This record gives sequence, C-alpha cells and structure tokens, in this order.
Amino acid sequence: MERRSFLKSAAALAATPALATLAKPLAAETQSALAPTPHRFPQGFIWGTATASYQVEGAVHEDGRGPSIWDTFSHTPGKITNGDTGDVADDFYHRYPQDIALMQRLGCKGFRFSSAWPRIFPEGTGTPNPKGVDFYKRLVDALRAAGIEPYCTLYHWDLPQALEDKGGWPNRDTATAFADYVHYTVGQLSDRISNWMTINEFGSYIDGGYGSPWGAPGRTLSRRDLAQTKHYAVLGHGLAVQAIRAVAPRAQVGLAEDVSGFMPAVEDEAHIHAAQVALREENAAYTTVVLEGRYTEKYLRHLGADAPHFTPEELKIISSPLDFWGLNCYTTQEVVPADSADGYLVVPRPATYPHMASEWLFVAPPALYWTPKLMTSLWNLKKIYITENGCSSADVLRRDGPNGEGRVLDSDRVQYLRSYLENLQRAAADGIPVAGYFLWSLLDNYEWSSGYSLRFGINYVDYKTQQRTPKLSSDYYRQVIANNAVI
Ligand code: GCO
Repeated sequence: MERRSFLKSAAALAATPALATLAKPLAAETQSALAPTPHRFPQGFIWGTATASYQVEGAVHEDGRGPSIWDTFSHTPGKITNGDTGDVADDFYHRYPQDIALMQRLGCKGFRFSSAWPRIFPEGTGTPNPKGVDFYKRLVDALRAAGIEPYCTLYHWDLPQALEDKGGWPNRDTATAFADYVHYTVGQLSDRISNWMTINEFGSYIDGGYGSPWGAPGRTLSRRDLAQTKHYAVLGHGLAVQAIRAVAPRAQVGLAEDVSGFMPAVEDEAHIHAAQVALREENAAYTTVVLEGRYTEKYLRHLGADAPHFTPEELKIISSPLDFWGLNCYTTQEVVPADSADGYLVVPRPATYPHMASEWLFVAPPALYWTPKLMTSLWNLKKIYITENGCSSADVLRRDGPNGEGRVLDSDRVQYLRSYLENLQRAAADGIPVAGYFLWSLLDNYEWSSGYSLRFGINYVDYKTQQRTPKLSSDYYRQVIANNAVI
C-alpha cells in the first residue's frame, strides 16, 4: 500500500466516530458565500441528449423493418462482447413515451435520434414501408408535444443488408441510394423536423466497417479500395445535402462527425499553429474535403497510386454548403511543433494518461475548447452543435436509496461532464459559435462491438426489466440545463 493510500485509510478510520454526529448546517450567509460562480452559456443554447436507432430501438422485426448490416454482424458469433445484439436494446421503439418523460425531467429542449434506413426502405431502395415512416411521425409528434425539438440523423450505420449484398459503401451506387432514401424520408417528415444531419461519423462506418473487423460489415479492403470508399461516403453526404435542399428548402442541414481533435500541448502561438495544421491534415479524408471541396496535397501525396479517383463535379457536391457542423467530441490529443515536413508532432499518450471505461476515451477536457475553436479559425464555421459528448463509466446500481430505491452514484461521469462543459463555456465566451450540446447518451444502450458491457447513459437501464434509473449525472445535467450554466 502506498504512503498516500495508507494515510487516507488511517484518517478515514480515525474520523469514523465523529461521523456519527451530523455536521452542523452552514449558516445561510456562509452557504451563499460558498456557492460557486455559474459560468453561463449564450441565451437560447440548446441542451439535449443523443441516441441512435440500432443502439436503442430494438423491435428489429417489427412493422416491416428489413435487416441491417448490424443485425447480420451482431448475430455473427465472436463479433460482439457476450454475443449481445440490438434485437431488443432499450425497447425505445415501444418505450419512447417514458423516455421523453426522462428528457422532460432533465429540462431538455432538443433530442437527437437517427432514422433507421431499413425501417423506411427494407430493401434499401424500391418500395418504401409506410409503417416505418409512421413510427418516426409518432416519435416526433410526441417530442414536439413535450416541447422538445427533434434533430434527426439520417444514417447512423444501419445500412440495409440488401445494399451490402450489392457491394455496400464500396459500390458508388450506395451513395445515390442513400440520397434517394434521404429525399423520400425528409419529404415525409420535413413538416415536423427542421434539423437534419446526413451521416454520423464517416470514419466509424467506413474505416470501422471496411478497413477492420471492428464493425459491420467487418470487411478489410485494400488501401486503394478503402480510399475510394471514403470518397463515395463523402459523395453520399453531398448528394444527401442536395436531396434535402430540393425537398425541404427551409431545413437546417449538417452532419455529425467525430473530428480527430488536436490541441496545443502549451497554449502559445507556435503550438497553436501546429495544432491547427494537424487538425486540417489529419482530417483530410472527411472533414477537410467536406468543408474545402478539395483533398489536401499531403493526403493525396501520402496515398500516391492508391488515391481515390474523383471529379471536380464530385468535389463540388461533397462540399455543398451546410447550415451547421455537428461535432461529436470525446477526446483530443496534444501537439507540439516539429522541425519536420509536417511541422507538427502528435504527442504519443503516456501509459498513465487517464481514460474512462472505454479504452479509447482519454479524458482531455480542452477537447471542447480547442476543437471548435480551431475548426472555426480554419473554416469560419457559423454554427456548431456538440452532437455527442459523454463517457462510459463503471456504473453500479446500488439498492440503497432513502426508500430502498436504486441509485447510481456516477461521480466520475459528473466530473467528466463538468470539466468538458467548463471548456465548452470557455469557447462560447471566446465567441466560438457553439449553439447546442447533445449529451451522449440519454440511456445506457448498445455500444456496438462492446454490446451492453459499456454504459454511456445518464439514465441506467436494467436490460432484464427495461427499468430506467436516473444517475447522479442526470441530476447534474438537470442543474446545468436549469441554470444554462456550468456550476
Ligand atoms: C460514436 C457513435 C455512438 C457511440 C458513442 C460512444 O460516436 O461512436 O456516434 O454511437 O455509441 O460515441 O462510443
């Protein structure tokens, strides 16, 4: 046992008798003097939560839904922790009314969800499924009746299996099929939904699905084919933007991308410049080409003969103007200047760098300051939503509430949220156009290849009973929303 641990445990033991006597309440004037100063967000800032169809809905065979690549992948032995599937998940398909009540308890004014392509087009193309559209109409009507604005992601990885059988995203036709699905879906729902995101995280479904066995469909393409598939993915996004503009001219259109974040290891000019260069170059395949309409020289030079084939017309489609940028932001990485061709060095994380329950989720709160700030400086963004931020924690449901009810004292998630939100408030105070924050996630849910082994929710889900239990972090987030401030 180390010195500090020993001293801590000895002190705790020594103090035990004193704990038996309740501490005297603070005098009123002392309490107010101790109250922390709230760090406020702009008026009208949207506080929400985020989910995704395959991760929460369940009901995978209901009302005409067709199979997706994640249905196939999750039912493939050995792919998912504990063999978990999204067959039931949070049963959100049936329980969304009670989950909307949880959003109201929080005071949320926005809710981000995704529409499942295989509910709308069970075969990916062809005849649409009215019952699939009807579910989203019911959901959105219930949200709006509760005073909650819907924010819809049109693709959160559940590609219809029928399209994967025809080649999937490596087949350019999938990009046009995506635009057709988007045109139809937005046409059906644009009277109820004004805020649309085309895709969620290019890299997670392209690099994760076609560049590694990590995610559906679990294919590993050659370097050249993967680079071309990345191009088709951003082309699909651009075609979808055009489809939305055609059918819903007044809609607000964006996407949700987990931009690889970089921050200056030291906040001086040289380090800040190095981080800015790193952010632009390391995001060349997706973010940079969407915002600039070109691939960087370094990106194309690095790929050489494996570089994608593309046309000027395609680049123009890909960089169709957006009304907002949705930023999924969980972590970032330090950068130092380097006397090299790149001009920067991404600092390798020391083995002791803190992370949450997910091994990739390194705790780096300045992510929510520097990534929006550097993106705005590079691309003059007019509106940014934090479309995802949150963390997995080792949540334990304790049956020790005042009346024996369950509770989850996820103090680590509260600390994570407070420290990240302090940095987001710093960005807002600097004039960065952050317009909203969607916490990932409202509910514990299906964490892809980790199944239900990792919990990201601020409401605990008992998957056997489907009972929801607000966690301590839920109470914290409620306070943030009520004050429109970090406290
Ligand atoms: C993602 C996805 C979510 C994840 C969440 C936690 O960013 O990977 O949008 O579906 O569940 O980010 O990993």
